[in-house]
Amino acid sequence: MDDWNTRTKLIHSGIRRSQYGEVAEAIYLTQGFVYDSAEQAEARFLESGPDEFIYARYGNPTVKMFEDRIAALEGAEDAFATASGMAAVSGALTAMLKAGDHVVSARALFGSCLYILEDVLSRYGVSVTFVDGTDLDAWKKAINKDTKAVFLETMSNPTLEVIDLPAVAKMAHRVGATVIVDNVFATPVFSRALELGADVVVYSATKHIDGQGRALGGVILGTQEFIRGTVEPYMKHTGGSMSPFTAWVMLKGLETLDLRARAQAATAQAMAEALQWDSRLERVIYPGLEQHPQHVLAMNLLEKPGTVLSLDIKGGQEAAFRFINALKIMVISNNLGDAKSIVTHPATTTHQRLSDARKAELGITPGLVRVSLGIEDTDDLIADVKQALDAV
Ligand SMILES: Cc1ncc(COP(=O)(O)O)c(C=O)c1O
Repeated sequence: MDDWNTRTKLIHSGIRRSQYGEVAEAIYLTQGFVYDSAEQAEARFLESGPDEFIYARYGNPTVKMFEDRIAALEGAEDAFATASGMAAVSGALTAMLKAGDHVVSARALFGSCLYILEDVLSRYGVSVTFVDGTDLDAWKKAINKDTKAVFLETMSNPTLEVIDLPAVAKMAHRVGATVIVDNVFATPVFSRALELGADVVVYSATKHIDGQGRALGGVILGTQEFIRGTVEPYMKHTGGSMSPFTAWVMLKGLETLDLRARAQAATAQAMAEALQWDSRLERVIYPGLEQHPQHVLAMNLLEKPGTVLSLDIKGGQEAAFRFINALKIMVISNNLGDAKSIVTHPATTTHQRLSDARKAELGITPGLVRVSLGIEDTDDLIADVKQALDAV
């Protein structure tokens, strides 16, 4: 199984067939499990075998199938599935940190990740230093002997800055810090974050893994010791576990993940190239374009530079809104990685909470529109964007 290629793993890894030999993965929609005897219950609470379950908050066969499949894809020893991407981000951090610890984080983060690092951790006595993720000197200055964790999004939301993960991981490992990577924008298909130096990888499965806008979910991947020794006790007692039905949706999503992500990335590249010299745009941000500041790094670290691009439209928020409202195929929403192409205006939605100064610092200008490419026809999508730019 270890030598299977990605698409084979995405279909067959982790499958646990019942005595009925079902083709599709079974949904064990049960909160718990019965025991043959009081002695068996006692023994299971003491130590559960790989096919023994107690209570769905602790584990469930459908959830286990999802965890084993994504761990096989990622090359991780183990995985813990969570109720949402944010349960994965907050769980990975809070499970391992305690008062007095220090964290260094890239500052260009998804709004909710920023909230956990900036507002929540400080309430529990954890100090966090934010750095410009693309500035290796800044990481070097910030990481010190008290640093217990380093947190970053390999490709940031929504300005698509790419961080030199191997270089940052090297600095973190020198002081024994754990490198936690939110790999949503890079996707599990295009990025080998663990091989590049991450110790822990988290995903919002709500994005590419489901990829069809049906369910919230997340996952934390790492060593067996970290997942079973640190994450599982914390998650199973605090309640952020994935439901069996969600795990089934995510298993079905994984089956087509590679095909969808490749089609989406091809469209993103074609659209970025078609628009890069358009005079109605201040910038087209896509790491697959040579003009992107971390283009070379992105092409070295990632198999493909992602499924999302950002357009900075001349004329600020008014022009951006006119553009968004004129789109005929793309839908206005705030998810990404979906089969449907989605546009988002980060300054007024996902990053609304930030001050104007903070938005400016992160490059979230009033004209910035994030475009998550779906799996519709590439030419149709490019034509849709062009007619919407005409309308501006
Ligand atoms: C980079 C990143 N991390 C984490 C999350 C949180 O995921 P979820 O919405 O599944 O909780 C998101 C969702 O938008 C995201 O974009």
